Amino acid sequence: HMWLRPISLLYSATGVLAHSLSLYASNGRSPRLALEKSLSWPSKDMQCQHMLKHLHNGARITVQMPPNIEGHWVSTSCEVRPGPEFITRSYRFHHNHTFQAHQFYYTDNHCTSPAYTLVIHGRVRLRQASWIIRGGTEADYQIYRIQAVFHSLTTAKELSQRLERSCGGSKEPGPWEPNVLYELCSEEGGCDCSRGLNFAMHELQLLRVEKQYLHHNLDHLIEELFLGDIHTEPAQRLYYRPSSYQPALQNAKSHDQSCIACRIISRSDEFHPPILPPRADLTVGLHGQWVSQRCEVRPEVLFLTRHFIFHDNNNTWEGHYYHYSDPVCKHPTFTIYAKGRYSRGVHSTRVMGGTEFVFKVNHMHVMPMDLATTSLLNVFNTNECGAQGSWQVGVEQDVTLTNGCVALGIRLPHTEYELFRMEQDVHGRYLLFNGQRPSDGSSPDRPEKRATSYQMPLVQCSASSHRPEINLGHHPDRPRKLNNGCRGQAVAPLVVLHVLVVALGLYG
Ligand SMILES: *[C@@H]1O[C@H](CO)[C@@H](O)[C@H](O)[C@H]1NC(C)=O
Ligand SMILES: *[C@@H]1O[C@H](CO)[C@@H](O)[C@H](O)[C@H]1NC(C)=O
Repeated sequence: HMWLRPISLLYSATGVLAHSLSLYASNGRSPRLALEKSLSWPSKDMQCQHMLKHLHNGARITVQMPPNIEGHWVSTSCEVRPGPEFITRSYRFHHNHTFQAHQFYYTDNHCTSPAYTLVIHGRVRLRQASWIIRGGTEADYQIYRIQAVFHSLTTAKELSQRLERSCGGSKEPGPWEPNVLYELCSEEGGCDCSRGLNFAMHELQLLRVEKQYLHHNLDHLIEELFLGDIHTEPAQRLYYRPSSYQPALQNAKSHDQSCIACRIISRSDEFHPPILPPRADLTVGLHGQWVSQRCEVRPEVLFLTRHFIFHDNNNTWEGHYYHYSDPVCKHPTFTIYAKGRYSRGVHSTRVMGGTEFVFKVNHMHVMPMDLATTSLLNVFNTNECGAQGSWQVGVEQDVTLTNGCVALGIRLPHTEYELFRMEQDVHGRYLLFNGQRPSDGSSPDRPEKRATSYQMPLVQCSASSHRPEINLGHHPDRPRKLNNGCRGQAVAPLVVLHVLVVALGLYG
C-alpha cells in the first residue's frame, strides 16, 4: 500500500462557513466573506440558501481514508444506468479481499419487474488515494466467476441469443431456462461472454466511504459506499476508468430506517431478486427552486453545488453553479450565474419514466472566488471572457457580451438537450433528477447526445420561483463590469470545464 498517512477528514457542513467568516472577518473583499454575506442576507425566502449552507441537513460527515469496505452494501433505490439500464445492487466485501456482487436488472424504471441477475465473484485490492479525484481511493479488481439467473422465459431467450454471438462455444448449450444458475465465465473458461452483456466491474476502481450521523443522533451512524461512475456512452463502458461516482450504496447493517428499498434489497438473492414497491411516474413540474443536497462530483475533478430557479409562467430559468476545489465543498473557486429559456418536450421514448426538455443559455455572469481562478482568467490574452486582465477575486462580471468565457470553456448562446424525472422522497419532498453529463466532457448540444441516465437529484426548496433580491453569485451592490469583445461560436459545454481544470493544475 502506498498510503502516505491515513487521514480522516472530519467536517461539519454547518461549521464550514462560520469558520471562513472568522478567518476573513477583516477583509471585505474576501470571496468567502462575500459568499457568507450573500448566504446570510436577511430575506423572506431563505430556505434555499439555508439548504445550500447546510448540505446533508447539517449532518456530520466523515470521509474514511483508507476506506474500510468490508461488509454488505445495498442500493437505496432503483438506479438508472446509461443505456438505460434499470438496476439494484447488493455487494458483499469480505475480510480476505474477495467480493460477491449481485446486480439485479429490470425491465422497468421502478425496479418492479426483474429480468436477470448477475452474481460476480472476485477480488479487490485498494491502491492509493486518488490524485485526480480528491477524497477517492483507487483500487484494482479481478473477476473469478460470473453467474447469471434469468427471471423470465423472454429474458432467458433474449440473452441466450445475445451471448451465443459473443461467446460461441464456451457458453453452455441453450436454450436457457428461467430460475437456473448458469456459469457465464470462470477462471478456467475465460470471460468472453461478458462482452455480450457489455459488462465490466470498473466501478471498483474508484471508492469512497462516508459516515454520517443522522440528525445529530450519535447512536445512528449511516455508512455510504461510493463506487466509480459508468461511462455515459455504452460503447465506451469497457474501456473507461471512473472519474466520478454512482449513487451511494448503504451499509445493510445500519441503513437509514426510512429506506424501504435497502431492506428489500438486503434480503434478496439471485433466486429471489428484489421487487421494489410500484410507484407512479410523477409529471415533471419544474416550477420553483431546487438545490443540491450534497457536494457533487463531476467527472474530471469538479466539485460543485447547484441552485436552479424555474419560472413556468414565461418558461425562463436561472441557475447558480458554485464550484469548489475540494470534495466537501469548503473552498470556493468560482461561481457561475446563467439564465435563459426552456421548452418542454415529450415523454422520452428511449428512457422509460424520463421527460425531454430543451434548455437555452443566453446570459451569464462569472465570479472568481480564489486567486488561482482569478489569475487563470486574467492570463487569457483575448477579449473572450469579460474585460481582458480585469478579473478580481470576489468581483462578478457579466460575460454575456463576450459570448461566454473561453477560459472556462463556455460559449454563448448555448443549447442543451435535457432529460428530467421527478420523485418524492420519504419525507414527501420533491426530488428533481436531470441528465448525467457526457463522460467525455462534451455537452449534450444535439438531440442524439441527450442523457439516458441522471445526476444526483436536487431537492425542491421553494415552490415559488420568487427569489430574494440579493443572491449568491449575483451582487447588485457591487459595480458590475460590462464588456465588449470578440464574438465566439456556440460550441462549448456549460459547466464541464476542462480548460479550467487543466489550467488550474498549472496555476494552482
Ligand atoms: C473469503 O471469505 C469468504 C467469507 O468469509 C469465504 O466465503 C471465502 O471462501 C474466502 N475466500 C478465500 C479465497 O479465502
Ligand atoms: C419571467 O417571470 C419571472 C417571474 O414572474 C420574472 O421574474 C422574470 O423577469 C420573467 N422573465 C422574462 C424574461 O420575462
